[in-house]
Amino acid sequence: MTELEEKLLATLAEAKDALAQAKASSAIEELRIKYLSRKGVMTALMGQMGTVPPADKPAVGKTLNLVKKQMEAAFQEATAALSDQSATAQAIDVTLPARLRALGHQHPITQVMEQAVAIFRRMGFVVADGPDLEDVWHNFDALNAPQDHPSRAVTDTFYFDLEHHDYLAKDTMILRTQTSPVQIRAMETHPAPVRIVCPGRCYRRDTPDATHGMSFHQIEGLYVDKKVSLADLKGTLSYYAKEMFGSNVKIRFRPHFFPFTEPSVEWDASCMACGGKGCKVCKGTGWIEISGAGMVNPQVLRNVGWDPEQLSGYAFGMGIERIAMIQYGINDLRLLYENDLRFLHQF
Ligand code: DAH
Repeated sequence: MTELEEKLLATLAEAKDALAQAKASSAIEELRIKYLSRKGVMTALMGQMGTVPPADKPAVGKTLNLVKKQMEAAFQEATAALSDQSATAQAIDVTLPARLRALGHQHPITQVMEQAVAIFRRMGFVVADGPDLEDVWHNFDALNAPQDHPSRAVTDTFYFDLEHHDYLAKDTMILRTQTSPVQIRAMETHPAPVRIVCPGRCYRRDTPDATHGMSFHQIEGLYVDKKVSLADLKGTLSYYAKEMFGSNVKIRFRPHFFPFTEPSVEWDASCMACGGKGCKVCKGTGWIEISGAGMVNPQVLRNVGWDPEQLSGYAFGMGIERIAMIQYGINDLRLLYENDLRFLHQF
């Protein structure tokens, strides 16, 4: 073996030893520069080929090529082993606590709706449901709305397919303008006594402004049984107001008119901001208007085949947006629907 061949083999062994010690890719890179770069050990050794006697050249050339290949392979192996190791190091540690995901929360309208439902459930009401896409019979006729009631106007209610349907026909489809048709559906499908609340979406052809939307939410209530009285209604709404707005809140009834109730009332809660003394929030009156209510009109009971001589009931229907605005001091209902997270995060 020539002297150069011995040097080559010794260099290979030395490089392999050094690679075995290298624990980081930067160390391997340093060794690569030392052995394999243009100014490295191997280039220098190759330069010595000129001094090899011609007769030895083929054999030494072979050894040179072999050593170079083996050295390159050793470098590749070392690099691969290192990346294997770091892959193991990065593998999932199942004992680590999970990263918490950012969770959203319920929209203020949903919160208020669920709060209201929870209060009524505590008083024995069950949740009933009805379709948003309703017929004229359930939304108007059965609720005793006269045919010339302004809410029936095609400019006030979303009607479907008026080209083929009369807007007064009982089976013409509309987007319900109130949750009150669920009263009818509940009485059609359940025997008395009935005690339901129905939270849900309603639609009207209103131009959106600070207090009106084309779509909004109501919660409807209905209790029909033997001998239900206006005093029961007042007790129920009084409990609701205290739970919703605070234990000092009082309520009052004012006479009103709805086709489906007789007598009808509007009810107010004493102002939560000033306790009833009169302030900016209640415009000096001490009272805040909440919603409509009343005793179920006997004609409505007859419309579902029930006997008003045997049964009586009360009903109420509240706008959820209005309650949310009162609860949170929001002065423009449109804020609730713009879905600006900076706004929604506050609730
Ligand atoms: N449906 C009425 C509305 O949208 C609200 C209402 C008033 C519902 C009185 C009732 C009620 O059940 O008794 O304006």
